[in-house]
Amino acid sequence: MKGIVLAGGSATRLRPLTKVTSKQLLPVYDKPMIYYPLDTLIRAGIRDILIIVAPEYAGHFMNLLGSGKDFGAKFSYVIQDKPRGLADAFIVGEEFIDDDNVTLILGDNIFDHDFSDQIRLFKSGGMVFAKKVSDPKRFGVVEFDSEMTALSIVEKPENPVSDYAVVGLYVYENSVIEVAKNLKPSARGEIEITDLNNIYLEKGELKVEIIEGVWEDAGSFDGLLHISNIMAEKAKQQVSNKN
Ligand code: TTP
Repeated sequence: MKGIVLAGGSATRLRPLTKVTSKQLLPVYDKPMIYYPLDTLIRAGIRDILIIVAPEYAGHFMNLLGSGKDFGAKFSYVIQDKPRGLADAFIVGEEFIDDDNVTLILGDNIFDHDFSDQIRLFKSGGMVFAKKVSDPKRFGVVEFDSEMTALSIVEKPENPVSDYAVVGLYVYENSVIEVAKNLKPSARGEIEITDLNNIYLEKGELKVEIIEGVWEDAGSFDGLLHISNIMAEKAKQQVSNKN
């Protein structure tokens, strides 16, 4: 299993913070944001990790993260020339993925869930993770059957069919490279991960796993502040547990 952190994008929601740096280098309490998705992959047992970056800040990521040795992992880097969408990760990452299966994590998604068991048990097709939320209209909403096979995924639905939002970590078999290459850009000009998921879903090959605990999209001001406060609390808790 290979891992990809998608850390390019335009980060328009965080302007002007992101006018002179990348979103994933901004601090979440005491660490750069990208440390969290990297840690999520490493904790899940994935050591061979590709970091996809935008051209402007590629050097900053390399300076910060290096070869991966300090993290007990191996990091590779590739530039995405333009933000062509989340599913573009599998096209930009084709050579790196090679003949393996792949886990993609969004560079601004922060979890405290341990994905290792679920990823270890992955066999084929695709696997998405879902978390129960109080405001599903804001998210990609997934409906699933008693066997945890996905039945539908709808982006920001008017009338959500479930309370389960699809979070920013996805696992696919190697065929994802070819599936991504055949996607057509959406109205906003991106190749969409939801379209990709729907291809596995239509074949009955998309599994859903429920997660609990912290999940935050740190790509908005409120998300960034909220997760920074959670991490500050956790750090203080750890110090007081030690004393
Ligand atoms: P988004 O938050 O959906 O997009 P964005 O980062 O461009 O931000 P905004 O909506 O504020 O303009 O992206 C989720 C993650 O994926 C984030 O880490 C950036 C990354 N990304 C890429 O690396 N390439 C892309 O083409 C896109 C769309 C996102």
